Amino acid sequence: MGEEVVTQTPPSPAGSGRRAHPWFAKYYSRVSVAMDRGGLAQYRRRLLEGLSGEVAEIGPGNGLNFRHYPVEVTRLVAVEPEPTLRAKARQAADEVARSTGSSGNIKIEVIGGVAERMPLADASCDAVVVSLVLCSVPDQQAALDEVRRVLRPGGEFRFMEHVRSQGRAAAWGQRVLDATVWPLLGAGCHCSRETGAAVSAAGFEISALSRFRFPPRLYLPDPTASHVLGLARKPA
Ligand SMILES: C[S@@+](CC[C@H](N)C(=O)[O-])C[C@H]1O[C@@H](n2cnc3c(N)ncnc32)[C@H](O)[C@@H]1O
Repeated sequence: MGEEVVTQTPPSPAGSGRRAHPWFAKYYSRVSVAMDRGGLAQYRRRLLEGLSGEVAEIGPGNGLNFRHYPVEVTRLVAVEPEPTLRAKARQAADEVARSTGSSGNIKIEVIGGVAERMPLADASCDAVVVSLVLCSVPDQQAALDEVRRVLRPGGEFRFMEHVRSQGRAAAWGQRVLDATVWPLLGAGCHCSRETGAAVSAAGFEISALSRFRFPPRLYLPDPTASHVLGLARKPA
Protein backbone atom coordinates (compact mmCIF):
# COMPACT_ATOMS: atom_id res chain seq x y z
CA MET A 1 0.00 0.00 0.00
CA GLY A 2 3.01 2.24 0.80
CA GLU A 3 2.84 5.82 -0.46
CA GLU A 4 -0.38 5.26 -2.36
CA VAL A 5 -2.86 5.57 0.52
CA VAL A 6 -4.95 8.72 0.12
CA THR A 7 -5.40 9.91 3.70
CA GLN A 8 -8.24 12.40 3.29
CA THR A 9 -11.90 11.37 3.21
CA PRO A 10 -13.10 11.29 -0.41
CA PRO A 11 -16.36 12.98 -1.36
CA SER A 12 -19.40 10.88 -0.53
CA PRO A 13 -20.28 8.71 -3.54
CA ALA A 14 -23.88 8.52 -4.65
CA GLY A 15 -25.76 6.06 -2.49
CA SER A 16 -23.14 5.83 0.26
CA GLY A 17 -25.61 7.27 2.77
CA ARG A 18 -25.16 9.55 5.75
CA ARG A 19 -21.80 9.07 7.43
CA ALA A 20 -22.24 10.47 10.97
CA HIS A 21 -24.34 8.32 13.29
CA PRO A 22 -23.30 9.59 16.76
CA TRP A 23 -26.04 7.79 18.71
CA PHE A 24 -25.39 4.50 16.97
CA ALA A 25 -21.64 4.99 17.47
CA LYS A 26 -22.08 5.43 21.24
CA TYR A 27 -24.49 2.51 21.49
CA TYR A 28 -22.32 0.20 19.36
CA SER A 29 -19.14 1.07 21.26
CA ARG A 30 -20.73 -0.33 24.43
CA VAL A 31 -22.67 -3.24 23.05
CA SER A 32 -19.78 -4.51 20.91
CA VAL A 33 -17.54 -4.85 23.97
CA ALA A 34 -20.28 -6.86 25.71
CA MET A 35 -20.69 -9.03 22.58
CA ASP A 36 -16.95 -9.75 22.54
CA ARG A 37 -17.07 -10.75 26.22
CA GLY A 38 -20.05 -12.95 25.40
CA GLY A 39 -18.03 -14.95 22.87
CA LEU A 40 -17.77 -12.93 19.66
CA ALA A 41 -14.04 -12.34 20.25
CA GLN A 42 -13.30 -16.00 19.42
CA TYR A 43 -14.84 -15.50 15.96
CA ARG A 44 -12.76 -12.34 15.47
CA ARG A 45 -9.62 -14.40 16.17
CA ARG A 46 -10.74 -17.06 13.67
CA LEU A 47 -11.51 -14.37 11.10
CA LEU A 48 -7.96 -13.02 11.26
CA GLU A 49 -5.78 -16.05 11.96
CA GLY A 50 -3.08 -16.76 9.37
CA LEU A 51 -3.14 -13.29 7.78
CA SER A 52 0.14 -11.66 6.83
CA GLY A 53 1.55 -8.69 4.92
CA GLU A 54 -0.37 -5.51 4.09
CA VAL A 55 -4.04 -5.63 5.03
CA ALA A 56 -7.02 -3.26 4.70
CA GLU A 57 -9.97 -3.42 7.09
CA ILE A 58 -13.21 -1.76 6.02
CA GLY A 59 -15.48 -0.24 8.69
CA PRO A 60 -13.44 -1.16 11.80
CA GLY A 61 -15.93 0.62 14.07
CA ASN A 62 -14.30 1.03 17.48
CA GLY A 63 -11.37 -1.17 16.44
CA LEU A 64 -12.15 -4.40 18.29
CA ASN A 65 -10.39 -6.53 15.65
CA PHE A 66 -7.06 -4.71 15.95
CA ARG A 67 -5.69 -6.65 18.92
CA HIS A 68 -6.35 -9.97 17.14
CA TYR A 69 -4.20 -9.41 14.03
CA PRO A 70 -1.29 -11.87 13.84
CA VAL A 71 2.23 -10.43 14.15
CA GLU A 72 2.86 -11.41 10.53
CA VAL A 73 0.61 -8.50 9.48
CA THR A 74 3.05 -5.65 8.93
CA ARG A 75 0.64 -2.89 8.00
CA LEU A 76 -3.07 -2.35 8.48
CA VAL A 77 -5.03 0.48 6.87
CA ALA A 78 -8.50 0.76 8.43
CA VAL A 79 -11.10 2.75 6.47
CA GLU A 80 -13.88 4.10 8.72
CA PRO A 81 -16.50 6.63 7.54
CA GLU A 82 -18.21 7.41 10.87
CA PRO A 83 -16.34 10.18 12.75
CA THR A 84 -17.05 9.05 16.35
CA LEU A 85 -16.13 5.45 15.57
CA ARG A 86 -13.07 6.59 13.62
CA ALA A 87 -11.82 8.43 16.74
CA LYS A 88 -12.40 5.31 18.83
CA ALA A 89 -10.61 3.16 16.26
CA ARG A 90 -7.62 5.52 16.48
CA GLN A 91 -7.62 5.08 20.28
CA ALA A 92 -7.74 1.30 19.84
CA ALA A 93 -4.82 1.49 17.38
CA ASP A 94 -2.82 3.55 19.92
CA GLU A 95 -3.58 0.97 22.62
CA VAL A 96 -2.34 -1.86 20.40
CA ALA A 97 0.85 0.13 19.68
CA ARG A 98 1.38 0.75 23.43
CA SER A 99 0.68 -2.83 24.47
CA THR A 100 2.92 -4.44 21.84
CA GLY A 101 5.71 -1.84 22.18
CA SER A 102 8.83 -2.57 20.18
CA SER A 103 7.88 -6.29 19.94
CA GLY A 104 4.88 -5.40 17.80
CA ASN A 105 5.22 -5.51 14.06
CA ILE A 106 1.93 -4.05 12.96
CA LYS A 107 1.54 -0.42 11.98
CA ILE A 108 -2.14 0.60 12.08
CA GLU A 109 -3.39 3.63 10.19
CA VAL A 110 -7.06 4.67 10.56
CA ILE A 111 -8.37 6.83 7.73
CA GLY A 112 -11.71 8.22 6.51
CA GLY A 113 -13.46 6.73 3.50
CA VAL A 114 -16.26 4.44 2.38
CA ALA A 115 -16.29 0.87 1.15
CA GLU A 116 -17.83 1.87 -2.18
CA ARG A 117 -14.84 4.09 -3.00
CA MET A 118 -11.82 3.14 -0.97
CA PRO A 119 -8.88 5.51 -0.87
CA LEU A 120 -6.45 2.71 -1.75
CA ALA A 121 -4.56 1.91 -4.93
CA ASP A 122 -5.41 -1.01 -7.25
CA ALA A 123 -3.93 -4.40 -6.24
CA SER A 124 -2.25 -2.84 -3.18
CA CYS A 125 -3.45 -5.25 -0.44
CA ASP A 126 -2.53 -8.82 0.46
CA ALA A 127 -5.87 -9.16 2.26
CA VAL A 128 -9.07 -7.24 2.97
CA VAL A 129 -11.14 -7.79 6.14
CA VAL A 130 -14.74 -6.90 7.01
CA SER A 131 -16.75 -7.80 10.10
CA LEU A 132 -20.40 -6.79 10.53
CA VAL A 133 -20.07 -4.18 7.77
CA LEU A 134 -21.61 -5.60 4.58
CA CYS A 135 -24.99 -5.55 6.33
CA SER A 136 -24.74 -1.74 6.47
CA VAL A 137 -23.08 -0.58 3.28
CA PRO A 138 -25.67 1.13 1.05
CA ASP A 139 -24.33 -0.59 -2.09
CA GLN A 140 -23.00 -4.07 -1.32
CA GLN A 141 -22.05 -4.86 -4.93
CA ALA A 142 -20.04 -1.63 -5.29
CA ALA A 143 -18.28 -2.43 -2.00
CA LEU A 144 -17.36 -5.95 -3.18
CA ASP A 145 -16.13 -4.58 -6.52
CA GLU A 146 -13.86 -2.25 -4.54
CA VAL A 147 -12.54 -5.14 -2.45
CA ARG A 148 -11.57 -6.90 -5.70
CA ARG A 149 -9.95 -3.76 -7.06
CA VAL A 150 -7.66 -3.17 -4.07
CA LEU A 151 -6.68 -6.84 -3.60
CA ARG A 152 -3.66 -8.21 -5.42
CA PRO A 153 -4.38 -11.26 -7.63
CA GLY A 154 -4.68 -14.25 -5.28
CA GLY A 155 -5.23 -11.92 -2.29
CA GLU A 156 -7.59 -12.97 0.51
CA PHE A 157 -10.95 -11.54 1.46
CA ARG A 158 -11.96 -12.42 5.03
CA PHE A 159 -15.54 -11.68 6.14
CA MET A 160 -17.67 -12.21 9.22
CA GLU A 161 -21.24 -11.01 8.72
CA HIS A 162 -24.73 -11.56 10.00
CA VAL A 163 -26.92 -12.83 7.17
CA ARG A 164 -30.34 -14.08 6.13
CA SER A 165 -31.62 -16.94 8.28
CA GLN A 166 -31.95 -20.43 6.75
CA GLY A 167 -35.42 -20.75 8.31
CA ARG A 168 -38.21 -19.56 5.99
CA ALA A 169 -40.30 -17.85 8.66
CA ALA A 170 -37.30 -16.13 10.21
CA ALA A 171 -36.09 -14.96 6.79
CA TRP A 172 -39.54 -13.55 6.04
CA GLY A 173 -39.44 -11.64 9.35
CA GLN A 174 -35.99 -10.31 8.49
CA ARG A 175 -37.20 -9.04 5.11
CA VAL A 176 -40.14 -7.26 6.75
CA LEU A 177 -37.78 -5.62 9.25
CA ASP A 178 -35.43 -4.55 6.45
CA ALA A 179 -38.30 -2.95 4.57
CA THR A 180 -39.46 -1.04 7.66
CA VAL A 181 -37.63 -0.09 10.85
CA TRP A 182 -34.35 -2.02 10.94
CA PRO A 183 -32.18 0.24 8.76
CA LEU A 184 -33.46 3.27 10.67
CA LEU A 185 -32.64 1.74 14.06
CA GLY A 186 -29.25 0.34 13.07
CA ALA A 187 -27.61 3.13 11.03
CA GLY A 188 -28.39 1.45 7.72
CA CYS A 189 -28.07 -2.17 8.93
CA HIS A 190 -30.02 -4.89 7.06
CA CYS A 191 -30.67 -8.31 8.56
CA SER A 192 -31.73 -10.31 5.48
CA ARG A 193 -28.74 -9.94 3.17
CA GLU A 194 -27.31 -13.10 1.56
CA THR A 195 -23.72 -11.98 1.82
CA GLY A 196 -22.02 -15.33 1.09
CA ALA A 197 -23.88 -15.54 -2.24
CA ALA A 198 -23.04 -11.90 -3.00
CA VAL A 199 -19.31 -12.58 -2.44
CA SER A 200 -19.44 -15.47 -4.95
CA ALA A 201 -21.44 -13.40 -7.43
CA ALA A 202 -18.79 -10.67 -7.21
CA GLY A 203 -16.23 -13.08 -8.68
CA PHE A 204 -14.40 -14.33 -5.58
CA GLU A 205 -13.45 -17.97 -5.10
CA ILE A 206 -14.81 -19.00 -1.70
CA SER A 207 -12.45 -21.49 -0.03
CA ALA A 208 -14.13 -21.70 3.39
CA LEU A 209 -17.55 -20.67 4.66
CA SER A 210 -18.93 -21.63 8.05
CA ARG A 211 -22.20 -20.63 9.67
CA PHE A 212 -22.66 -19.85 13.34
CA ARG A 213 -25.28 -18.37 15.61
CA PHE A 214 -24.46 -15.46 17.83
CA PRO A 215 -25.56 -15.07 20.53
CA PRO A 216 -25.55 -18.88 20.75
CA ARG A 217 -28.53 -19.06 23.14
CA LEU A 218 -31.56 -16.95 22.31
CA TYR A 219 -34.21 -16.06 24.86
CA LEU A 220 -35.94 -13.70 22.43
CA PRO A 221 -35.91 -13.79 18.60
CA ASP A 222 -32.84 -11.96 17.29
CA PRO A 223 -32.94 -11.08 13.57
CA THR A 224 -29.15 -10.76 13.45
CA ALA A 225 -28.24 -14.10 15.04
CA SER A 226 -27.37 -15.99 11.80
CA HIS A 227 -23.74 -15.37 10.85
CA VAL A 228 -21.20 -16.51 8.28
CA LEU A 229 -17.43 -16.58 8.61
CA GLY A 230 -15.75 -16.78 5.22
CA LEU A 231 -12.44 -16.85 3.40
CA ALA A 232 -12.47 -15.98 -0.30
CA ARG A 233 -9.76 -15.19 -2.83
CA LYS A 234 -9.51 -12.89 -5.78
CA PRO A 235 -8.64 -15.19 -8.70
CA ALA A 236 -4.90 -15.13 -9.44
C1 LIG B 1 -21.85 -2.82 13.27
S1 LIG B 1 -20.46 -1.82 12.98
C2 LIG B 1 -19.15 -3.04 12.93
C3 LIG B 1 -17.84 -2.48 13.37
C4 LIG B 1 -16.65 -3.44 13.37
N1 LIG B 1 -16.33 -3.87 12.03
C5 LIG B 1 -16.86 -4.62 14.26
O1 LIG B 1 -16.67 -5.76 13.83
O2 LIG B 1 -17.19 -4.42 15.45
C6 LIG B 1 -20.66 -1.38 11.26
C7 LIG B 1 -19.49 -0.57 10.74
O3 LIG B 1 -19.63 -0.41 9.32
C8 LIG B 1 -19.27 0.92 9.00
N2 LIG B 1 -19.87 1.28 7.71
C9 LIG B 1 -21.16 1.52 7.42
N3 LIG B 1 -21.30 1.89 6.12
C10 LIG B 1 -20.06 1.86 5.59
C11 LIG B 1 -19.54 2.13 4.30
N4 LIG B 1 -20.34 2.50 3.28
N5 LIG B 1 -18.21 2.02 4.11
C12 LIG B 1 -17.40 1.62 5.12
N6 LIG B 1 -17.83 1.34 6.36
C13 LIG B 1 -19.15 1.46 6.59
C14 LIG B 1 -19.84 1.72 10.17
O4 LIG B 1 -19.33 3.03 10.22
C15 LIG B 1 -19.40 0.83 11.32
O5 LIG B 1 -18.08 1.10 11.69
